[in-house]
Amino acid sequence: PLQVILDGDPGHDDAVNILLALASPELRVLGVTTVFGNVGLDRTTRNALVVRELARSNVPVYRGVGRPLVVPPISAELVHGESGLDGPHLPTPSRGTEDEHAVHFLIRAVREHPGEVTLVPTGPLTNVALALRLAPDIAPLIRRIVWMGGSTDTGNWTPAAEFNALADPHAAHIVFTSGVPLTMIGLNASHQAIAHPARVAAFRGLGTEVGEFVAVLLEFFAEHHRERYGWEGGALHDPLTVAWLLRPELFGTRPMHVEVDLTEGPSQGRTVADVWGVTGKAPNAEVMTEVDADGFFALLVEQVGKY
Ligand code: BDR
Ligand code: CA
Repeated sequence: PLQVILDGDPGHDDAVNILLALASPELRVLGVTTVFGNVGLDRTTRNALVVRELARSNVPVYRGVGRPLVVPPISAELVHGESGLDGPHLPTPSRGTEDEHAVHFLIRAVREHPGEVTLVPTGPLTNVALALRLAPDIAPLIRRIVWMGGSTDTGNWTPAAEFNALADPHAAHIVFTSGVPLTMIGLNASHQAIAHPARVAAFRGLGTEVGEFVAVLLEFFAEHHRERYGWEGGALHDPLTVAWLLRPELFGTRPMHVEVDLTEGPSQGRTVADVWGVTGKAPNAEVMTEVDADGFFALLVEQVGKY
C-alpha cells in the first residue's frame, strides 16, 4: 500500500478526508498530524482524535504547530462552528495524542521510509514547512506532497487568497520552492465538488453510524456555502486529495509554475498559477483542473460504507 501521512486542521472536510483514507486498504496511514487552521490547535487536535474514535482506528495522532510562521493567525469558525466540527454529536476520545511533536514525526517517518511517504496536507502548510527547514535532507526523500489549498483563480478568504494559503503564506512558499513533487488541489477544482442534498442523502442512505455522521457534517458545512455563494451544498475540498491518490482517473491535472504572493496587501497568500506558461518558468506543481464530481462522491460513499 501507498504510505501516507494526513496533516490537517479538522474541520468538516478534513474529517471526511481522514475517514476516506482510513477506510482504504490501498493506503497505509502512518499517522495523522494536526495544525491550527479552521479553529485553534487544541480543537483541531481534539477533532482528529474524535474522528479516529469514530473510525475505530489505532492510527497515531500527533499534535503540530499552533501558529503561522510570520503572519497573525486566522481561523474559520464562520464555516466550521466553534468546535471546528459543529453539527453531529462528537464521541469522547478514549485515547490522546502521541508524545512526539508532529514535525518530528514527519521527519522521522520520511527518513524511515525514504522515497515512499506521501504527505497529504489539508490545512495551512506550517508543519510541513517546518519539517523541511528543520531537516532539509528529507526534501528528496518525500514521494510527493498532495495539498488542498490555493486556487488558479479567485480566493475564498480574501478576493485573492484561499484559506489554507492565506493562513500561512510563508509556509506555502517554502513548500512550493522545495523541489518536492507537489500536487495542488485548489478552489478551482474543489468548487466542482459540491455536496448537494442528493449527495448528502447517499451518505445517510448507508444507514450506518459513520454514514449519518458524514451526512450531518455535510449539512452543517452547507450552511455557510448557501449563505455566501448561494450554492445548495458545501464544496468538499479536502477529500479530493486522498481521492486523487486512490482514483487519479477521476481527475484532470496540468503541470504549472505556481508562486505564492508574500507581499503584504490585498493579494497576500494568492497562489499565482501560470496557467498559460507565460513566465517560461519550469512547472513546480501538478494542478488539479478537472473533477468527475459524480465519480468522486460515488467513491466517497463506497468508502464510508465500509465502516
Ligand atoms: C480549506 O479551508 C478549510 O476551511 C477547509 O478545511 C479546506 O481545507 C478550503 O479553503
Ligand atoms: Ca482543511
